Amino acid sequence: MSEHKKQDAQHQGEFPVRRREMSRRQFLSYTLGGAGAFMGAGMIVPMLRFAVDPVLQPKVEAAWVKVVEAAKITEVPTSFKFKVHQVDGWYESEPELEAWISKDKEGNIFALNPTCKHLGCTVNWNGSPEFKDQYYCPCHGAHYTADGKSLAVAPAPLDQYDLKVENGFVYVGQLGPNKRV
Ligand code: FES
Repeated sequence: MSEHKKQDAQHQGEFPVRRREMSRRQFLSYTLGGAGAFMGAGMIVPMLRFAVDPVLQPKVEAAWVKVVEAAKITEVPTSFKFKVHQVDGWYESEPELEAWISKDKEGNIFALNPTCKHLGCTVNWNGSPEFKDQYYCPCHGAHYTADGKSLAVAPAPLDQYDLKVENGFVYVGQLGPNKRV
């Protein structure tokens, strides 16, 4: 049958007309599915941004913190506590930190962090009568020189704070690797 004749036959109702129609059920499921996906994205995207955004922010260098008058620093390391404002992702806090500050024979002032480089206990200057004029860690016996050099147990020297003296006061800043040993 020619195409022309087929069309005539369809017009006259001899063949069923094939149309691509969407059923009511399909229409409803597409509509509801689309609306659900849209609403879900509206809730999930802000949550994802909240969770991930702080991690993607560039790390800010530690601010300088005024700790003590420079005139009070001697060659004997002394412990000083100070607070820093810390932003860790979405969590803000003001932890108290400690620095052992002293000056060398040339009069250069420096500050060491007392966290032992073995497993993280806290060292003390002259913490053991066995190791005079050294930092000593009570946990496993690590000991360090006044410059923070490890003499036993710990695999690395004590970390050192950036330090500046301004208007007669000692300021400490970023904590980093020991630059003295
Ligand atoms: S943590 Fe200091 S010696 Fe082990």
